[in-house]
Amino acid sequence: MSRTFVIIASKAVTTPFNLNDLAGSAGRMDLVCRFISQSLFISHGVRRDSTAYAVLKGPPEPVKILRFEGGEVRYLAPDERNIAGMINKALKAEVKCGWTRVSPGVYVSRMELADLLEELSERGRIYYLREDGVDVDGVELINPVFVAGDHTGVSPEDEEIILERCSEIVSLGKVPYQADQCVTILNYLLDRRAER
Ligand SMILES: C[S@@+](CC[C@H](N)C(=O)[O-])C[C@H]1O[C@@H](n2cnc3c(N)ncnc32)[C@H](O)[C@@H]1O
Repeated sequence: MSRTFVIIASKAVTTPFNLNDLAGSAGRMDLVCRFISQSLFISHGVRRDSTAYAVLKGPPEPVKILRFEGGEVRYLAPDERNIAGMINKALKAEVKCGWTRVSPGVYVSRMELADLLEELSERGRIYYLREDGVDVDGVELINPVFVAGDHTGVSPEDEEIILERCSEIVSLGKVPYQADQCVTILNYLLDRRAER
């Protein structure tokens, strides 16, 4: 079974940035790095069945989408700075049609959110994460693709695109979590369900 996590990073920049200012001039790239880290890494290992996508919508060249495949990545460590360095490498790459590989398991694309969700609907069921959704406890999650917003949530335009393609709006409860915390909770939940 696969698991896929998508973050829509509305402010994250789309050209190389200063590694010393991830939360400032890089447009909350710290959130994106933590999201990728929590999607892929466990203690001393990588989740081979997990994939993380970051939809970068900040200036100056939106949209760019990053893809990190747990089954393929090498030369990647869980800390924010290391992941940010890899993102910088992806943002320097000349992006061709479709996905451009920048390192083992790391890809960049110029596709739009709608195209990404069309592609991911082939991989599994799409669940939109929102506090007011149906309780995740009652939802069967088969090859789930989870879509989350950043610190600003999801714009009305992007929400329309997601709602057209998702199976369900799913909630982790009333507490508002950061996107990377949602990933940690969902990975735990999926791990526990797999053990049973
Ligand atoms: C920091 S929250 C967004 C906060 C933003 N101010 C808002 O009101 O939408 C980041 C994202 O995590 C997800 N999220 C946070 N808490 C959640 C919860 N309890 N259940 C489901 N998704 C949640 C949502 O996708 C949200 O867009």
